[in-house]
Amino acid sequence: MKKEILVTGAAGFVGRRLARALGRKGYEPRLLVRSERRFKELNPGIEGSVVEADLLDDRSLDTALEGVRFAYYLVHSMRGRAVGRSGDFAGKDRKAAENFVRAAGKQGVERILYLGGLGEYGDRLSEHLASRQEVAKILSSGKPALTELRAANIIGAGGAPFEMLRYLVERLPVMVAPRWIDTRCQPIDIHDAVGYLVGCLRESRTAGARFDIGGAEIVTYRQMIRLYAGVRGLRRVVFSVPVLTPRLASLWVALVTPVSSGLASPLIEGLKNEVVCKENRIRELIPIPLTPMVDSLRQALRETEAGSVMFPADTFTKGYPH
Ligand SMILES: NC(=O)c1ccc[n+]([C@@H]2O[C@H](COP(=O)([O-])OP(=O)(O)OC[C@H]3O[C@@H](n4cnc5c(N)ncnc54)[C@H](OP(=O)(O)O)[C@@H]3O)[C@@H](O)[C@H]2O)c1
Repeated sequence: MKKEILVTGAAGFVGRRLARALGRKGYEPRLLVRSERRFKELNPGIEGSVVEADLLDDRSLDTALEGVRFAYYLVHSMRGRAVGRSGDFAGKDRKAAENFVRAAGKQGVERILYLGGLGEYGDRLSEHLASRQEVAKILSSGKPALTELRAANIIGAGGAPFEMLRYLVERLPVMVAPRWIDTRCQPIDIHDAVGYLVGCLRESRTAGARFDIGGAEIVTYRQMIRLYAGVRGLRRVVFSVPVLTPRLASLWVALVTPVSSGLASPLIEGLKNEVVCKENRIRELIPIPLTPMVDSLRQALRETEAGSVMFPADTFTKGYPH
């Protein structure tokens, strides 16, 4: 099993932390990236062998999946500059998942482990959250068993949710926000999310099953802003107005934060949907202590200040981090 693990999205926010965590546990995962050169420049010394493949090109997947038993699926296509337009990320993500599940079946992969999003069909889901559900459905349709973990926002340095929060609170003493500022969510610390992903490998009862994963606290986005401001000792005022549309809000976030508009727009549209765990079965199967949100924020800030965060390419606009 040591070498029979594949991590897709290994250059991403979650993927590179998962690759490191697997390495610490003695595994030698194969890391799937689109550009080996770029990956090695950004990740000197990371453990594991690197394979180049593009999920939109199914010919490249056979080699990447050869001999793999467990494949982590940590891929999405939201990025770049696309203010007000989706850039058809949902179409790309559909195609990528179809290619992957077909190739995984052909190569005899036993299990796919997918980190998707919380949110229920029928809840008038945003395009992003609906696309995450669609990807889960496609991945579950093939021969390999699927383990699906569903998360709300993941808090960690270099991740889009934390970086948007950080820049908005640091830069704006007075914030005008849409109504979604009072939507509830259940963020999870990046180390806890990675802990569940690693834990699922050895817990066979997670095969063919879906789990909600979340932190210990349920908060509104307004409360998250207050928590961050409290940790940083900043005084912040937040007004909500009913007229601010998600499109305007994403233009504004793209202006104030370095998160690329192709990623910020769909994420902001998704903030209207409540993302709270509906069940907590994972806590019995993989009993890891959950990090309090204030500690997650402190840890992410420490990593940012230490300059130890590697930022996924293209997720943020050019010139970042500052
Ligand atoms: N971050 C969060 O707060 C959060 C919350 C809930 C769920 N999740 C889920 O966690 C997973 C990982 O998210 P993340 O935050 O780590 O995203 P991320 O940092 O943007 O990374 C996404 C990765 O996908 C790769 N990718 C995109 N298209 C690809 C393709 N056609 N072929 C191969 N690789 C491709 C990218 O590779 P390149 O580097 O080559 O571009 C990138 O490494 C996603 O399924 C996401 O829905 C994340």
